[in-house]
Amino acid sequence: MRRIRLKLKKRSYDIIVGCGIINRLGNCVHKLNIGADAYVITNPLIRIKFGKAIQGALSKSGMSVRFKTVADTEKSKSVETAARVLKDLAAYDLKKRIFIVALGGGVVGDLAGFVASIYKRGIPYIQVPTTLLAQVDSAIGGKTAIDLSTGKNLIGAIYQPKLVFSDVGFLKSLSLRQIRAGLAEVIKYGIIKNPGLFSFIEKNSSDILRCKPAALELIVQRCSKIKADVVSRDEKEESGLRTILNFGHTIGHAIETASGYNKFNHGEAVALGILIACGISRRLGLIKLPVEKRVGELIKKVGLPTQISGISIERIINTHYHDKKFLGKRNRFVLIKRIGITQITRDIPLKIIKDSIKERF
Ligand SMILES: NC(=O)c1ccc[n+]([C@@H]2O[C@H](COP(=O)([O-])OP(=O)(O)OC[C@H]3O[C@@H](n4cnc5c(N)ncnc54)[C@H](O)[C@@H]3O)[C@@H](O)[C@H]2O)c1
Ligand SMILES: [Zn+2]
Repeated sequence: MRRIRLKLKKRSYDIIVGCGIINRLGNCVHKLNIGADAYVITNPLIRIKFGKAIQGALSKSGMSVRFKTVADTEKSKSVETAARVLKDLAAYDLKKRIFIVALGGGVVGDLAGFVASIYKRGIPYIQVPTTLLAQVDSAIGGKTAIDLSTGKNLIGAIYQPKLVFSDVGFLKSLSLRQIRAGLAEVIKYGIIKNPGLFSFIEKNSSDILRCKPAALELIVQRCSKIKADVVSRDEKEESGLRTILNFGHTIGHAIETASGYNKFNHGEAVALGILIACGISRRLGLIKLPVEKRVGELIKKVGLPTQISGISIERIINTHYHDKKFLGKRNRFVLIKRIGITQITRDIPLKIIKDSIKERF
C-alpha cells in the first residue's frame, strides 16, 4: 500500500493505492475526522459488487453507512439526478455528521463530488474509484461536474476530496474494453511526463490487460503521483501546467462527441487524439517519425484503435471548432517534443490539423 500526498496547503489529501486494501478504508477515514455517517453514492452494479465490503470496512470503525444508488449511465450526471440525491441527503441528514463517499467510476465520482460541493455550501467527501480511468484520472484533482443537454461537464466546481482510496483489486471485474479505455490515459501520462512509465507499459502490456495486481498497482501509483504533482502546482489551470493533462483530448473530445459517445468511448477517442497530436507534432518538426511510430505501436499493442471509421472528417473538424473551449478563440494544442516532454502551441494551420486527422482514416 502506498500513500501519495496531493499538496494544497490546508486542502492537501492522501491518495492511497494498493491491492486488497478495502478493509483498511474505515481506519483511514476515521483518522481524517470528517464525520461518522457515510452517505455512499454509487450505482446498482457497483453496490452489488462492492457494497458489502464498503459497509463492513466503514462500520468496523463505528460509522453508519447509507447507500444511494443512481442509474449506471452518463445521464446520472444531470441536474435532475443531483436534485434527487440532494433531497434524499437532506432528509437523511438530521442530527448526523455526514460525509459523502463516491463509490464507482468517473460518472459517480463527478456527480458525488458535485453534490458534496454544494450541499450546505460544501461537506467533506472521499473518492473510492472502481474503474482504471477513475483511479488514474477522474477521482484525483477535484474537478466535479454534471452535464447539461447542451454539453458535458458544464456545471461544476473544483472541490477537492479529503481522500482518494484506490484498491486495484476492484479492477478485476472490469471488461477488457474498460481497462483499455483507462490505459489510454495511462499512456498519456507516460508520454507527457514519464518515459519510464511508457516503457513499462510497452514491456508489461499483457500483465496489465490481464489485471495482474502488481502491474496495476504500479501504473495507478505512477499516474496518481503525476496527477497529484500537476494539480498541486496548478489546481485551477491558471499557469498552464494542468493543461498538459489535455494531451490527446483536443481532437479526442471532438471524436468522442462526433461519434455520439457511442462508437468510441472516452479512452478510445483519447488514443486517436494522442496519435493525431503526434501527427501534428511531427508535421511541425517537433518530433521525428520513429517517435510517432513508437506511440502508434503501443496503442495498437494494447488493443486501442488507431484508425477512425463511421464518422466523417468534416464532422470531427466542425465539432472541434464548436467546442466550448474554442469559441471565438485561437486553437491551442498540447504537443510533444519527445516522450516525456510537452509543448503547448497555438494557431496551428487548419491544413496541418486536417492532414493529421486524415491520416487516421
Ligand atoms: N473529474 C475529472 O477530472 C474527470 C476526468 C476524466 C473523466 N471524467 C468523467 O468520468 C466519466 C467516465 O468515467 P468512467 O470511464 O469511469 O465511466 P463510468 O463511471 O461510466 O464507469 C464505466 C462502467 O464501468 C462500470 N464499473 C465501474 N466499476 C466497475 C468495476 N470495478 N467492475 C465492473 N464494472 C465497473 C460502471 O458501472 C459503468 O458501467 C465521464 O463522465 C467523464 O466526463 C471526469
Ligand atoms: Zn481523459
